[in-house]
Amino acid sequence: MTISIKTSEEIAKMRIAGRLAGEVLDYITPFVKVGISTDELDKLCHDYMVNVQGCIPAPLNYAPHGHAPYPKSICTSINHQVCHGVPGDKKLKNGDIVNLDITTIKDGYHGDTSRMFYVGEPSIQARRLCESTHEAMWRGIRTVKHGSTLGDIGYAIQSFVEGLGYSVVREFCGHGIGKKFHEEPQVLHYGKANSGIRLEAGMIFTIEPMVNAGKAGIKQLGDGWTIVTKDHSLSAQWEHTILVTETGFEVLTLSADAPPPPEL
Ligand code: MF3
Ligand code: CO
Ligand code: CO
Repeated sequence: MTISIKTSEEIAKMRIAGRLAGEVLDYITPFVKVGISTDELDKLCHDYMVNVQGCIPAPLNYAPHGHAPYPKSICTSINHQVCHGVPGDKKLKNGDIVNLDITTIKDGYHGDTSRMFYVGEPSIQARRLCESTHEAMWRGIRTVKHGSTLGDIGYAIQSFVEGLGYSVVREFCGHGIGKKFHEEPQVLHYGKANSGIRLEAGMIFTIEPMVNAGKAGIKQLGDGWTIVTKDHSLSAQWEHTILVTETGFEVLTLSADAPPPPEL
């Protein structure tokens, strides 16, 4: 188990890759409307990353062990889809909630971030799930500093989420990130305070809780990628890439239009 400590040169490159990933979400926001297909969103993001930003979309042809190569440039997870939804010709409809997950590679380094979007006018319950998941991510982020633990992150997220009657998905977690898309450590979104690995300044990892309105159980669809809730309940996710600093954290995937952190 080795977690890399990034050098200041690497951190500078991660800041750029991270900001660019956030800026893809800023760019795509006005297009997320009733009637657009997730394939169209994928194409718009792909072209923006490649032609405007000079980035490589990391998901395209990504093939972790046991998976067929991922066929698209972004992930689009709608309603009861938890994560890794594969863009297709299905059009967004009024009331949908959709997660767009963007991972850029710039100058050899990765930036990974996702947000929830409202299509038209989702239900009060759907909005509350999305807002609560955003707050859960930030509660996790705010525990981060040199000397705190991975368990502190998981505990902050799980205790908040379960207190609202929601559940935390267990099978997928945040991850170290750098030259590789997925590095050590695994960042669980549940756990015990003051447990697990101690954070050190210079570590970089994502925090990306997946929160189900119903039970935590999930299953994979026949496409080999899309993950859905077993009970068909709604699911939400937000993600940022985080640098551990001596005094706290730096969010590397912020951009001009990133939703502000909630006041607690
Ligand atoms: N971006 C996802 C994450 O946050 C991973 C997507 S892998 C893909 O870790 F192949 F589905 F794109
Ligand atoms: Co990630
Ligand atoms: Co991601």
